[in-house]
Amino acid sequence: MLIRKRRGWEIPERLATPEDVYLNRREILRSMGVVGAGLGAFVSGFSWPSTALGQGVPGEPRAVRFPDWPAADQYPAERNPLFGEEEAGRPVTAADITLAYNNFYEFRVDKRNVWKLVERFETRPWELEVTGLVQNPQVFDVDDLIRSMPLEDRVYRLRCVEAWSAIIPWTGFPLKALIERVQPTSRARYVALTTLMRPRQMVGMQEQRHYPWPYHEALTIPEAMNDLAMLVTGAYGKPLPKQMGAPIRLIVPWKFGFKNIKSLVKIEFTEEQPKTLWNTANPREYGFWANINPEVPHPRWSQASERLVDTGERVPTQIFNGYGAYVADLYQGLEKELGDKLYR
Ligand code: MTE
Repeated sequence: MLIRKRRGWEIPERLATPEDVYLNRREILRSMGVVGAGLGAFVSGFSWPSTALGQGVPGEPRAVRFPDWPAADQYPAERNPLFGEEEAGRPVTAADITLAYNNFYEFRVDKRNVWKLVERFETRPWELEVTGLVQNPQVFDVDDLIRSMPLEDRVYRLRCVEAWSAIIPWTGFPLKALIERVQPTSRARYVALTTLMRPRQMVGMQEQRHYPWPYHEALTIPEAMNDLAMLVTGAYGKPLPKQMGAPIRLIVPWKFGFKNIKSLVKIEFTEEQPKTLWNTANPREYGFWANINPEVPHPRWSQASERLVDTGERVPTQIFNGYGAYVADLYQGLEKELGDKLYR
């Protein structure tokens, strides 16, 4: 997804499909006294011993830190049995890995450093405005919202357009539950979602001035009302870490990661199809729909398989990321009209 202005929104393939070792794995290995010559060969078959988890490197801040917010007593929530680890098809990816390998361009394009740069990002107090074509527009204090919603835990697959993937246990509530509270009017057809814009704390915004900030994304109302669409406020049974989009983000697991917008401040109901950041920045490569389909390649790389961020293993990508039973209906009839656009 990295976009360099000079190169006309082009990125090298090697950045789209990163090498098999992520985050500070090397640093953790060093702390275990096992790093040295032949690391590449060693780590290719390496699995994470639980004793290494969360240790980080002496003298450095740890990536695995969960904030202790006012509504922290709401976690862990009860696991929804429809979305357990077994249903996800693979074991949950260790928090060491997913908390130290993040796409959050407001902080840094380099995924391995986001967790350090979010340190000064203040996520309380935090308001979420829900507005537009609704009968009950409201501004929620995020902790009041968390306390008033039916929190549940779900293990979902996350598949980035860059062809890496992870299995993450999220905590949150169905987006549908919020929509029912604000009551969209009959004119509403889309939901536009917007991330906070605070360049003073989000240093990547200063570095990446050519993006049309703030980060913005959108769904149709039927997509937003789908059972899978969640507003997420926690992960790994704890309040959501900043690098994962604290205090509240969207998770729509059948769509590429870039639709899963972080650190939301506004949700607006509209009649017209809203613009989205990636589509505006690079319409040739990123569309509105972004449904996962192994048969529709990105213009510069295949989407047929994905690389698991923990083991580096390549596995086949599934249509709708394996969630077709929940979402395929949403697109019936549209395929004829939109074709591959549904999957870009
Ligand atoms: N949301 C915002 N505001 N800014 C971003 O840069 N990156 C997206 C998405 N949401 C992004 C964002 C992309 S490309 C991906 S793959 C996921 O967040 C990554 O989520 P994670 O870091 O929690 O794994």
